[in-house]
Amino acid sequence: MYYRVLQILADGQAHTAEQLNQHLSLGPRELEQALNTLISYGIRLHSKAANTYQLTEPLELLDRSRILAALPKETGQLMADLEIHSVLDSTNRYILTQQHLSMPCACLAEYQTAGRGRQGRQWVSPYASGLCLSLKQRYVALNEPLGGLSIALAVSVARALHRFGASEVGLKWPNDVLWRGRKLAGMLLESRWRMDCEVVIGIGINVKMPPVETQNIAQPWVDLYTILGHSISRNALAAMLIEQCLQTLKTYSQVGLAAFLPDWHDFDLSYKHTVTLSYEEREKWVTVTGTALGIDEQGALLLQVGKTIQRYIYGEVSLRL
Ligand code: BTN
Repeated sequence: MYYRVLQILADGQAHTAEQLNQHLSLGPRELEQALNTLISYGIRLHSKAANTYQLTEPLELLDRSRILAALPKETGQLMADLEIHSVLDSTNRYILTQQHLSMPCACLAEYQTAGRGRQGRQWVSPYASGLCLSLKQRYVALNEPLGGLSIALAVSVARALHRFGASEVGLKWPNDVLWRGRKLAGMLLESRWRMDCEVVIGIGINVKMPPVETQNIAQPWVDLYTILGHSISRNALAAMLIEQCLQTLKTYSQVGLAAFLPDWHDFDLSYKHTVTLSYEEREKWVTVTGTALGIDEQGALLLQVGKTIQRYIYGEVSLRL
């Protein structure tokens, strides 16, 4: 019920309790519950006059038909399923465990109660303030390694953000999207073997984050609104990301990572910088500091440590720009 209340309030206009009750056939108690749920999700409401409710600003909710309409025809035909949810624990967990979905498919949620980040971290994205997108694809055999696919997808997300005007975005290995050292977007790839290999690509992007619920985010972050200086359509961005990712999955399965290496190099923020890589090995954290020299044909990070060049396939890079 809270979602139907939000759909009305999304226009940013003031609505009286009577109007809302009448329109949705709600009792006062149900309306109160719905409003409380919205507040608990971090939706900012004010009540300028008695019994009147208004969002602090208009909200563009995710809309399946708008996303489908914005997709080029062949991408729309390529995609077997697109689901939009108001709240899920995690779009990655959901799409990974749903067996009824045909593939390739995508799912978006306005809010995740347990959004998953890399290295076991949590991904925080207050209600309707970002994009939480997961795509699932089936592979009969995975000829190319997943690490390379994650690099190719990071390139495609950076390209999509560039097209939206975020011209200074860059990539930190393997798939962090940064702007002036602050995190704008992240990706989490997960896979599961059933009959075939199912790969889930999770993408989180900060679009317009409210100040309040974001205080606890552990690392410096930024949103598209700050970068661009204006709001953008989340539906248009979702369509562009889906389009870019599906094209990338196709190109990657035909040509592999080679097609993405030049763009990676252009976006690579670490190249020739001193970085520290941390990774877990036999339940211990190991750190290694060296000069980043880009990636190899499999997407592994190349680090010059002393006189030798070493390759790494997992870990977390920290870089000082
Ligand atoms: C990172 O830590 O940088 C990766 C963040 C990935 C977040 C996205 S949001 C959509 C999808 N569902 C999840 O639970 N996580 C990913």
